[in-house]
Amino acid sequence: MGLVSAVSGWSLPPAPAGGALHPYDLRCEHLATPQGIATRAPRLSWRLASGRRGDAQAAYRITVRSGGAPAWDSGWIDGQDPSASYAGTPLTSFARYTWQVQVRSADGEEAAAESWFGTGVLHPDEWAAAWIGHDPETLPPFEPPADDREPRSVRTASLPPPRYFRRVVDLRPATSVRIVCTARGLYELRVNGHRAGDGELTPGWTDYRYRVPYQVYDVTGLVGDGPACVGAVLADGWWSGSLGWDGRRQAQRYGRRPELLVQLVADHADGSRTVVGTDGSWRESTGPLRYADLLMGEWYDARLEQPGWDLPGFDDSSWAPARVVDTGHDVLVPSAAEPVRVTEDLVPVGTRRDGAGRTIVDLGQNIAGRVRLTVRGAPAGTRVTLRHGEALDEDGSLYTANLRSAEATDHYVAAGLPEETFEPRFTVHGFRYVEVTGHDDVEVLGRAMHSDTPVAGEFSCSDDMVRRLTSNLRWSQRGNFVSVPTDCPQRDERLGWTADAQVFLPTACYNADVAAFFTGWLADLRCAQTAEGAVPDVVPHVMTERHGAPGWGDAATVVPWHLYRVYGDERVLRDSLPSMRRWVDHVERHNPGLIWRERVGSHYGDWLQAGVRTSRDVLATAYFALSAGLTARAAAVLGLADVAEHYAELRARIGEAFVREFVSADGRVSGDTQTGYLLALAHGLVPDDLVPAAVRHLVADLERRGRRLTTGFAGVGLLGPVLSAYGHHDLAYDLLHDDRYPSWGYSIKRGATTIWERWDGWTEENGFGPVAMNSFNHYALGSVGEWLYSGVAGLGQEEDSVGFRRPLIRPLPGGRLRWAAAAYDTPLGRLSSRWEISGGELTLEVRVPPGALATVHVPTKDPSSVRESGTPLATAGIDVIKSTEAASVCQVGSGRYTFTASWGR
Ligand code: BGC
Repeated sequence: MGLVSAVSGWSLPPAPAGGALHPYDLRCEHLATPQGIATRAPRLSWRLASGRRGDAQAAYRITVRSGGAPAWDSGWIDGQDPSASYAGTPLTSFARYTWQVQVRSADGEEAAAESWFGTGVLHPDEWAAAWIGHDPETLPPFEPPADDREPRSVRTASLPPPRYFRRVVDLRPATSVRIVCTARGLYELRVNGHRAGDGELTPGWTDYRYRVPYQVYDVTGLVGDGPACVGAVLADGWWSGSLGWDGRRQAQRYGRRPELLVQLVADHADGSRTVVGTDGSWRESTGPLRYADLLMGEWYDARLEQPGWDLPGFDDSSWAPARVVDTGHDVLVPSAAEPVRVTEDLVPVGTRRDGAGRTIVDLGQNIAGRVRLTVRGAPAGTRVTLRHGEALDEDGSLYTANLRSAEATDHYVAAGLPEETFEPRFTVHGFRYVEVTGHDDVEVLGRAMHSDTPVAGEFSCSDDMVRRLTSNLRWSQRGNFVSVPTDCPQRDERLGWTADAQVFLPTACYNADVAAFFTGWLADLRCAQTAEGAVPDVVPHVMTERHGAPGWGDAATVVPWHLYRVYGDERVLRDSLPSMRRWVDHVERHNPGLIWRERVGSHYGDWLQAGVRTSRDVLATAYFALSAGLTARAAAVLGLADVAEHYAELRARIGEAFVREFVSADGRVSGDTQTGYLLALAHGLVPDDLVPAAVRHLVADLERRGRRLTTGFAGVGLLGPVLSAYGHHDLAYDLLHDDRYPSWGYSIKRGATTIWERWDGWTEENGFGPVAMNSFNHYALGSVGEWLYSGVAGLGQEEDSVGFRRPLIRPLPGGRLRWAAAAYDTPLGRLSSRWEISGGELTLEVRVPPGALATVHVPTKDPSSVRESGTPLATAGIDVIKSTEAASVCQVGSGRYTFTASWGR
């Protein structure tokens, strides 16, 4: 098949070049070249690389220009931090700013790099566009072609056809043309026959009641002199389409039908500006799309295409005038995060036809996305149907029971050309297999799509199964970061479940730069918090009136704190502290005894735990303590000493209550379950003198079960970190390598290519797990990824370090592994480690970015054997801080180091 474009891979960019200190990977508001900046003092940041040991940025200077005119010169500023807030002349709307950062090393050497950002709408009075939509009065209801007698399903029968809008603008020659576009719904923007931008499912999903994101496109290259046609296709999406498990068409959650807003801004050489916005002069019609729905799929009838509809010369006299809906702009915000994009094409690994005219295509990988279908030699009117599923039934047919009411089915009605291609645009499916019926001569290409968060890290090792696990959790991240962090991409759910997001966040941050992605999501979380302070179980808040479940609502504290720790941007704490406080106050208000039993909402406990029941009170109170503690720390960072003291004191009292209520004199935690111990130990809720006993109980439980885990969502991510913190990483490795039920390996043995929602997604005894809730692409149980990076490969940071300024490199050779390696782009630059054991020797290669001071644990029983590039540490000028029975611990600045030490003796 002739691929129009082939997109491949989701891998970490190559390590930046060495040489003299230099900046790279410039960002504005955590984004590479964003177009719609509307904050007055955007954050500019860059990463640093250098081939020299001990290098650091000593000073930097930023210069910003717009249209050739200077906007800001920061002058040289001393400091190692590679970020600054814009402080130049006030930014103006719809402009492009180029910026340069120069950095100076301690030796006085200078290097520079350049980037740019574009602005959105900075003043409310600059909006000149109205919301427009379809007027049921002026355009008759859609009539399918007479020869099309196929009934639509009950669920799709009520879906309205997407609308096509257009308007021709007579433009004088322009030096730059930008379009601001958004929809209450989903839109695809077209300019003179071309698609604008490469974002999918735009404008994305937010809490539309408070925030409707817009995108800005530079379309200068798409318009010439003379008339230009601006067109848009408008579909229901999250706004008015099916959403979640509520079968009634979305129960009109946000609105009844979609609406569009477009504003074109053209700047001319003489300094004048033309502004054209959506209004009653736009024309609308239906087109080949009969319906388009995120959960149900798309129906596209190529016979109904109107060639040239998005070009100036098109005769639109049969189109109807668009209806002006309203002119409110209050809720418009620039899109805060990377758009959803197609990031990888998957060529099928297998295709099978059965006797019944069905073709089953296997992509070899469970993804979120869609397919590109090529149809050859189909007579006009042939309907080709694509059904999507994550698994096959025993008889080889497509398994779709776990999709619940999501039909995940696309239909393409051929125009009758020798070859035609179809790719749906306003739907997304979670699938590995596609069933094609209706025509035999077809070809399918899988197109993976998700929020295009830049890859930030990679982990690898010598064991196939662990590598597969790493791949599975990356794919589950990709498949579920689709505009918001969702639980699953396939069934009629796909909601921003807050616990799923918070437990997976540390893993997610290692895999990708999710700073912008979660910043937007947190804004929705804050919008949705109730007057009381309760946090909904899903964000954006839809579907349920469920609020405040322990471990779910705590996303309000865990997410901002973790983002701050990782990215070092204090603003996330400033923005979130009031919400953190309201959440903790709410729990306290209803639980004055400090054991969290009241206002627990739907209390899911240690969700999907295996065969045990962790005490819900233990879980809740542990989270209460955690949230109070994080709130105290956030307040301290912001310099609010009184507030910090208040929450620190509350945290201390919750801790006492926890011990009184749940920790017995012999170090047992009520319920005696793995998750109970893990939560108590991880969050410092066991008195120091009882810690060894509590650890023993945890270990005993694992041993009693033949070294099997029982943890659900809340506990699973803590297994590795807690076990290795207390010297039991052999046990952690056993769990990692296990392939008996329940384990990650069990799903991998069964062929999993993503993380399963439940340990028993499929078992020998029962086959597929309960259809009511059995997703094969759910990342929560994949939160083990954090330990792979920070434990196995040893890429972490010191407890009081922020933004990885003080990396803690403490690898844990063990298990079946001969080697393991990870690389991670910290805010300073690339951090990496790779260890290998061979011939009784351990080799540890480390890379530390400029400005960081890393503590490196070189694991060995014989510290005197440690060398760096062949030289004893003292001679090599390396600072040894201590030697223990298990490691030699040293401190190094930026640079690359190769340590060797004797192993096993
Ligand atoms: C979702 C979960 C979510 C849970 C709440 C499920 O339906 O898929 O991942 O956290 O409900 O218990």
